[in-house]
Amino acid sequence: MDSIKPLIAPSILSADFTRLGAELERVKNADLIHFDVMDGHYVPNISYGLPVAEAVKRATEIPLDVHLMVEDPDKFIPSFAELKPAYITVHYEAVDHLQRTLALIRELGVGAGVALNPHTPLSGLQYILDDLDLILIMTVNPGFGGQKFIPATLDKIRDCRRLVADHPIKIQVDGGVSHTNAAELVKAGVDILVAGSAIFSSPDPAEYINKMRQGG
Ligand code: DX5
Ligand code: ZN
Repeated sequence: MDSIKPLIAPSILSADFTRLGAELERVKNADLIHFDVMDGHYVPNISYGLPVAEAVKRATEIPLDVHLMVEDPDKFIPSFAELKPAYITVHYEAVDHLQRTLALIRELGVGAGVALNPHTPLSGLQYILDDLDLILIMTVNPGFGGQKFIPATLDKIRDCRRLVADHPIKIQVDGGVSHTNAAELVKAGVDILVAGSAIFSSPDPAEYINKMRQGG
């Protein structure tokens, strides 16, 4: 039986920003381009915002996967939605009315995602499964690329897979993901692997993406 192939989403946080167009060319076999927005409040780091997302959109036909690590994401959702990304993901911990925020994302024609930090339980999501297109299980604390994968998140991924059951919801992981843990993550139930430093530090990112897709 063929094993299930994960989708691969390079995080351009680890790309060389002086040559972003060329970096996107190096990952042209990716399924999604993961775009990390950090505001210096919700996470202790600032990355980039809409003008850079617009440039990325112009430079690639690969759909964007927008990960909003910001306070009050509702303010930013409409402008990112104009770029027609595959997903916009907000943090569970950063919104007061999660169901309303997810509905807003969908009304704008975009897949709605929720991200959970390593300590955040899955509880509550059982009531909003019909509002979700993606659940992002953070496998590091958000804010920086190049951190170490937190192994305890594997149990949470398995629990999430059981929770999702037959709902058409993708399970994504982000943080410390590489070819060394790709197979284990897919076995635990992950559909989309986000990887920044592992892909962009590789001498041949496209080949590395294929390797991750084959399960490491
Ligand atoms: C971390 C970001 C990640 C980051 C992952 O807060 O959400 O997307 O780019 O980087 P790596 O794969 O290097 O851990
Ligand atoms: Zn991310």
